[in-house]
Amino acid sequence: MTLIDANAMGASPLRLDGPAKVTGAAPYAFEHPVDRPTYLHPIQATIARGRVAAMDTAATERLDGVLAVLTVFDAPELADTSDGELSILQDDEVHFRGQLIGAVIAETAETARHGADLVRVDYRRQPADVRFDGDRDDLYAPDEVASSFPTDTETGDLDAGLAAAAITVDQTYTTPIEHNNPMEPHACIALWHAEPEPDGTVVTLYDSTQGVHTVRKTLAPLFGLEPDQIRVISPHVGGGFGAKGAPHCHNVLAVLAAQRSGGRPVKLALTRQQMFALVGYRTPTIQRIRLGADADGRLTALAHDVIEQTAKVKEYAEQSAVPSRVMYRAPNRRTSHRLAALDVPVPFWMRAPGEAPGMFAAEVAMDELAIACGLDPIELRIRNEPPTDPDSGNPWSGRHLIDCLRRGADEFGWDTRDPEPRSLRDGDWLVGTGVAAATYPAQQSPGNAARIEFDDRYLVEIGAADIGTGTWTALTQIAADALGCPTDMVDLRIGDSALPSASVAGGSSGITSWGTAIVAAAKAFRDKYGVDPAAGSALRVEAPDNPDADKFAMHSFGAQFVEVRVNRDTGEIRVPRMLGMFSIGRAINPRMLRAQLVGGMTWGLSMALHEESVRDPRFGHVVTQDLASYHVSVHADIGDIQAHWLDEVDEHTNPMGSRGAGEIGIVGAAAAVANAVHHATGLRVRDLPITADRLL
Ligand code: MOS
Repeated sequence: MTLIDANAMGASPLRLDGPAKVTGAAPYAFEHPVDRPTYLHPIQATIARGRVAAMDTAATERLDGVLAVLTVFDAPELADTSDGELSILQDDEVHFRGQLIGAVIAETAETARHGADLVRVDYRRQPADVRFDGDRDDLYAPDEVASSFPTDTETGDLDAGLAAAAITVDQTYTTPIEHNNPMEPHACIALWHAEPEPDGTVVTLYDSTQGVHTVRKTLAPLFGLEPDQIRVISPHVGGGFGAKGAPHCHNVLAVLAAQRSGGRPVKLALTRQQMFALVGYRTPTIQRIRLGADADGRLTALAHDVIEQTAKVKEYAEQSAVPSRVMYRAPNRRTSHRLAALDVPVPFWMRAPGEAPGMFAAEVAMDELAIACGLDPIELRIRNEPPTDPDSGNPWSGRHLIDCLRRGADEFGWDTRDPEPRSLRDGDWLVGTGVAAATYPAQQSPGNAARIEFDDRYLVEIGAADIGTGTWTALTQIAADALGCPTDMVDLRIGDSALPSASVAGGSSGITSWGTAIVAAAKAFRDKYGVDPAAGSALRVEAPDNPDADKFAMHSFGAQFVEVRVNRDTGEIRVPRMLGMFSIGRAINPRMLRAQLVGGMTWGLSMALHEESVRDPRFGHVVTQDLASYHVSVHADIGDIQAHWLDEVDEHTNPMGSRGAGEIGIVGAAAAVANAVHHATGLRVRDLPITADRLL
């Protein structure tokens, strides 16, 4: 048997799921064939706060093809109502505009939608509070942010550090509400079996999710079930970006409806508009950054204070200031997070939650400091490089930010740059370049296991997710590598909660977490059965904890370079070039790694120039609730986008030596655009998005 084939770890085989996807054979959540499907259409509140007084469903019930109507007055009861986002239809209260207050089950999707329109709802309105600003007197500190980080940190004496500084920056930056828009809207099919299946399954849920096990663990208590009584199936997902990182209220609605559909499967596909109210969004931020530096540009003080939004109905606290805890050396430091709790939907993860908005503010502030110090922005960052993690004190598992900055500068052609803003013009276009740093933590999630069986080929099973990132291919490569066999000897099975436990495809932790389990299982399999296993050999192994987890600070890093051209008459911004140089550990599949990084960078451009969800303060809903009014960048918007990475293996993160690369591509990209816009025009824009009107 050959130990290495052309598709081993580090090679770039094409996506194994590619042919099935492009030929339409790969089933997405809504498409799984089921017997006698019914269709569900939600009814959403049209007030932002108050109570539902009455729901008149008579006209709906008279419609041919309507099977049942669920309302807040007669929906099935949930066994656990502790989650304010998921506990729907249990009382008459309206917590935000767009909240689910009912649904129609019908023979066709069109009938369900028409039926939902015919339900007449009377409300008792109460004044809604949807105003997000930093002057509120009810801002509060959550117990923690991102459910594990301290809300605030303080080291040394910030005021003394600022007072001692030769140069200071004190600026406030804002980022707007942004909405995840995966190509495939959230969709599911729920089936409540009349009799439990032979394996004990009571509910089958075909879902579009980043984690089948997360879905069933979260939903089971709501329905008084054990997790293994819910089977979640999700082999293909048309993008997630965080919005599918946990079940949302539409999943609960579908399972509630499945209790009323006479044992028939219930199909639910949210519309694009419904997604803008129901499946999370990136909180807006107001971020004050204070930097103090000595005359040589060495930081004496660094403060990052963030105000964010949460929902009254359930707290979500994003970790936007957390990256500032690890980026630079500064003896006196402070970070803090404060929340405004509003009558709005619950914010949630959106690609690089925390790091993406936080590093916009932090890295624009560093650009401002570089100019104030008369230093090249790369040199400023190099002078403030921390030898160990300023937050934990631990050594880095592999911090190569300086390499990223220097190698990126070489590739980009930074050395010919005239630092003077507004110094380069090409006809009517002002030309500028900008740089920003990026970081994202390398994390392993607990609760992973893998099973391997040999027949005439290897079957490798883990309940992981491929949200378009390349999991099918990368895990096959990892398994083949660990088993010492060609990739075409391995059949991978993922995307089903009947498979061994797997953590969510989130926090750029997927490949680390699942790969660790697969490598452990492969090693155990080899130890037990040797290189020539008998047919039927099988075992299941839990992923070990990383022994280095508490000994090293494990983060990816990167440097983002951008060239912009700004029309001096119209303010139109064009981006002919983006270049990212990243340190992400080992490249498991360079083709898919590049796609992740380029996708993230493109989204960073989108964040810089376009993305903004506008909430109407009178009515409480987001008015930009479609792709005609919520603008996103696409690859074609960039002349030349390049993602590169250092050739490295991280010895401490996982057995593959990788660090995860799903999210770092977006981090810092918006700051690099803003810094390039400043270099081109001399105008410092501190509020995203950088629309043309801000440059006139
Ligand atoms: Mo990713 S936004 O952590 O799912």
